[in-house]
Amino acid sequence: MLMRLDKFLTHAGALTRTEASKAARAGRITVDGKSVRDCSVKIDPRQCSVAVDGEIVVYRQYTWIMMNKPSGVVSATEDGRDKTVVDLLPEQLQSLGLFPCGRLDRDTVGLIMLTNDGELSHSLLSPKHHAEKVYSFTLSVPYDKSVPLETGILMDGKMTKPAVIQMSDELHGRITLTEGKYHQIKRMFERAGSKVVFLKRESFGGIPLDVSLAPGEWRYLTQDEEDRLRAL
Ligand code: URA
Repeated sequence: MLMRLDKFLTHAGALTRTEASKAARAGRITVDGKSVRDCSVKIDPRQCSVAVDGEIVVYRQYTWIMMNKPSGVVSATEDGRDKTVVDLLPEQLQSLGLFPCGRLDRDTVGLIMLTNDGELSHSLLSPKHHAEKVYSFTLSVPYDKSVPLETGILMDGKMTKPAVIQMSDELHGRITLTEGKYHQIKRMFERAGSKVVFLKRESFGGIPLDVSLAPGEWRYLTQDEEDRLRAL
């Protein structure tokens, strides 16, 4: 598979197209150890070793990113009013067609995955495979334990799938879901007479939020994390 050097560099998230052509002209890009000054050359990313300033750029067919979503940001690609999770990414990643894999409410914080791998994203969210998601939450008042939130309640005309709730005290807990109805957790606890006042996604498909990411920060998934998603 051949692709233009500048396309390879933008897809890898290393440089924007303009930066790539400037860097090439300045002799900062090498392919298999030789300086390449023309970014329109075609390379085979699986065979060649490309470096910028001596640092090897890893080829990625798809990009997978984890972000610690801050409150007040919407999990969409565009929004007329609010900032989106895509807006928080640097410029060289803006043109990769990244979109959030699933949704978090505007005021929900924590782990959100962004990708341009439509097929895997779709299958991770499909009812058949739906990846497990763990959230921590804080309630306004203790919830009514007689409401069967874990076995299932009627929501949007269907029973919710089994969920696991582990409380650490009367107001704080964790919930594990394998589906994602609109405002699901908030609506579940509302039905049990309480209100969710804080909600954070801690993990997705068994991959925990990297604790070193401050709100608004992101990093690429490691190959191992990406393989784990693919194996689900
Ligand atoms: N459930 C909710 O109510 N909100 C979210 O953001 C995610 C799950």
